[in-house]
Amino acid sequence: MDALCCLKASSLPLALAAICILIGAPAMAEELSTLSLDYYDKTCPAAQQIVRKEMECAVRNNPRNAASILRLHFHDCIVQGCDGSVLLDDTITITGEKTASQNINSLIGFEIVDRIKNQLEGECPGVVSCADLLAIAARDAVTLAGGPYWDVLVGRKDSKSASLELANTDIPNPNQNLLTLTSNFLGKGLNVQDMVALVGSHTIGMARCTNFRERIYGDFEATSHYDLTSKTYLSKLRSICPESGHDNSISAMDYVSPNIFDNIFYESLLKGEGLLNSDQEMYSSLLGFETAELVKLYAADSISFFKHFSDAMVKMGNITNPEGGEIRKNCKFVNT
Ligand code: HEM
Ligand SMILES: *[C@@H]1O[C@H](CO)[C@@H](O)[C@H](O)[C@H]1NC(C)=O
Repeated sequence: MDALCCLKASSLPLALAAICILIGAPAMAEELSTLSLDYYDKTCPAAQQIVRKEMECAVRNNPRNAASILRLHFHDCIVQGCDGSVLLDDTITITGEKTASQNINSLIGFEIVDRIKNQLEGECPGVVSCADLLAIAARDAVTLAGGPYWDVLVGRKDSKSASLELANTDIPNPNQNLLTLTSNFLGKGLNVQDMVALVGSHTIGMARCTNFRERIYGDFEATSHYDLTSKTYLSKLRSICPESGHDNSISAMDYVSPNIFDNIFYESLLKGEGLLNSDQEMYSSLLGFETAELVKLYAADSISFFKHFSDAMVKMGNITNPEGGEIRKNCKFVNT
């Protein structure tokens, strides 16, 4: 393993950066974000490489880090647009989104974001937004886990506010039905194809017992063929997640290849073995003719899945916060 892997940025460039910002302070006015591919070409040409290198380290250290970063980007974009709002800590003046029902005890990977941000600030202080950092890191996460590559549009601004309320209402929860999930995504400008492809993110990462209990004591038996393998899988899930207690015990959403970004997740849905109610809804809901067809397509054809997934990630990454914002120095706090 690379000995220099994931070293924290030395404090010297950071100190210099702070001084430069104090002297330079070019009153970053609030601007609306227009996204482009070359946004940092002049101001921080190494940005993409820096993120990539840190993500390589992070994923090598723990494959789940890929999943955690991908999810952070999703939860960022769903609330006020992709504006880094998910990264804000609670302070006296701001209530962040970290305590929202779908985030608390669940979102992880913030220290990876901070490490990447340190590196970026060392290289080009005050230039790269935390929202862009997340968008690039999420793409790298997918690619490093074996999924598709796409070009990430950049130029997002970091919000000066967060919305716990929107985080509570707009981040989907695993026990919502297909209609609710669909209208939620439509409300964000994401269509049914985008939704079914994006949910394929669950080909990597883990879920907690509290999020799949209703499923494994609910209709799991009914949707699965209930043959020997599915019976064995179900009893394993029930031992990880009893009817009460062990809320935070975790299980992979794609038990076949939990660290690989592939289309096997959709095969599990065809078998009726999705871990989350929301995932299985895509195939088994009585109202899900279109979604079921997409699940079949993606299970049979990983190229279509990768293409639709990449397109949907660009669309999701395009959701911007109309309020504009700033380039945060520290992803956890708005600039003072
Ligand atoms: C139908 C909408 C969705 C629902 C209801 C949903 C729900 C969930 C739940 C309940 C978990 C487990 C969290 C925990 O137990 O702590 C989870 C994990 C995850 N979700 Fe989703 N999700 C949805 C869509 C998405 C989308 C669109 C993405 C990405 C674009 C995504 C990416 C992930 C990833 C990567 C994980 C694993 C995180 C980790 O292991 O740290 N999800 N999701
Ligand atoms: C995303 O936004 C860019 C400009 O900000 C635009 O050129 C592109 O067509 C958009 N892509 C999608 C899929 O919405």
